[in-house]
Amino acid sequence: MGKNFRFIAIAGIILFIALSGCAQQTQQPPQSGNNDGTQTGNGETGAKIIEVTIKDFAYSPSQLAVNAGDTVKWTNLDSAPHTVTSDSGSELDSDQLNKGQSFSHTFAVAGTYDYHCAVHPSMKASVTVQ
Ligand code: CO
Repeated sequence: MGKNFRFIAIAGIILFIALSGCAQQTQQPPQSGNNDGTQTGNGETGAKIIEVTIKDFAYSPSQLAVNAGDTVKWTNLDSAPHTVTSDSGSELDSDQLNKGQSFSHTFAVAGTYDYHCAVHPSMKASVTVQ
C-alpha cells in the first residue's frame, strides 16, 4: 500500500511536470515571419518587396506588375540624381535620390501607376498593381 502510493505520487508529479513543459512550449510565439513590416516574401500576408534599379538614366524593370500590398523599392545606382514621381496624382512622390539612395512605396489599390523622373522627364516607367 505504502509503496504503491509513493509510486503513484511520483508518477503523478512526473506527469504534471511533463504537461507543464508542453503547455509552456505551446505558449511561445511562432518563430516564422516578423512584425516590423519588412517581410520579404515568407510573411503571413504574402506581401513582397520588389526591387527596381535606376541605372544609365532608366528604370529597370521599366514595366512592373505587382500585387496589392506589395512594396516596390527603387534604388538609384547612377551618379546623377533621379526621382520616382507620378505622371498624375501623388501616389509616387519621392525626394531626389542621390547615388545609392532608395525610395520604397507600398501599393494598396489596383491600377496602373505611370511615373517619371522629375529631373529627367524623358525617364518613364510604370507599375501595374493587380
Ligand atoms: Co532622372
